[in-house]
Amino acid sequence: MNILVTGGAGYIGSHTSVSLLEAGHNIIIADNFSNSKPEAIENIKKITKRDLIFYEIDVTNEKSVDEIFSKHKIDGVIHFAGFKAVGESVSKPLEYYYNNLVSTIVLSKACLKYKVNKFVFSSSATVYGDNKVPFLEDMELLPTTNPYGETKAISERILTDTAKANPDFAVSILRYFNPVGAHHSGLIGESPRGIPNNLMPYITKVAKGELEKLRVFGNDYPTIDGTGVRDYIHVMDLAEGHVAAIEKLDKGVHIYNLGTGRGTSVLQLVEAFEKVNGIKIPYEIVQRRPGDIAECYADASKAKKELGWTAKRNIEDMVRDAWRFEKGV
Ligand code: UFG
Repeated sequence: MNILVTGGAGYIGSHTSVSLLEAGHNIIIADNFSNSKPEAIENIKKITKRDLIFYEIDVTNEKSVDEIFSKHKIDGVIHFAGFKAVGESVSKPLEYYYNNLVSTIVLSKACLKYKVNKFVFSSSATVYGDNKVPFLEDMELLPTTNPYGETKAISERILTDTAKANPDFAVSILRYFNPVGAHHSGLIGESPRGIPNNLMPYITKVAKGELEKLRVFGNDYPTIDGTGVRDYIHVMDLAEGHVAAIEKLDKGVHIYNLGTGRGTSVLQLVEAFEKVNGIKIPYEIVQRRPGDIAECYADASKAKKELGWTAKRNIEDMVRDAWRFEKGV
């Protein structure tokens, strides 16, 4: 297939681009480097020894998007491009709603106009809110605590309604749990700007000596050791989930959890990192972070049954590959 990958220079987008090229698909990447770097494009080509088409555009720009669709025969779209910092979304709600919703609308309109019938969307487990774990795709969604989460829930609705009104337009909504790690080459990975908000990049910065110590947000949750539990998933497993999703996509709207189905606490992740990489991670316990939930993990059986996909890599692979990327090979 010829697949348009928006946000293909970003963290999950670049890994998925590698998997798509390795599976034999052709890709067109559209990215404005708002939270990524041009090197990612070169490194995708280096890893796969394949070429790709690249456009530096903003996918909220209808004219630029139309130009791509008019020039190329596209079979499907995987839409990653979007703002994703939970905390920032609280202080910049309009930027988040505008960017994340308009991009989804503009791309869907282009798909209908050019009869592109496959759309895979990057959603998030955040749409489950504080439901009871494990999270199942058909659970009623609960309000999220931030504009970022709302943009994911609203985008899901926009795509679902569009597919209902246009039966040829098939949509796969992928709800990611906590993607971590990097491609084993160490050439692509997660490079957040400034001080990381997420746990794994924070740990790797502490390991590197760039940050003094980890702050563990609360140890009084009703979990195995009191710290927050998440379903960490290796980014290459997540990437492979996208290949399965677009290859299987035919008719209708399909929602899949992409997670491992296993929960790991903050302290368990720190311990695994220390053990595998032989580096001590100093930490202190601080107050809970507002908006955090105690536990978040997937019931991942639907993706296994319908897509034939399961996560293959374990926590040890995740902490090893995250560190290999951060320290540079
Ligand atoms: N944590 C710390 N210290 C830190 C950072 C995080 O203790 O410096 C803890 C959090 O309290 C939480 C866990 O580590 O218990 C994971 O936190 P992250 O910030 O890495 O991830 P979240 O689960 O909060 O959020 C992530 C993505 C969201 C997405 C959500 C889906 O950042 O975009 O998963 O479940 F919506």
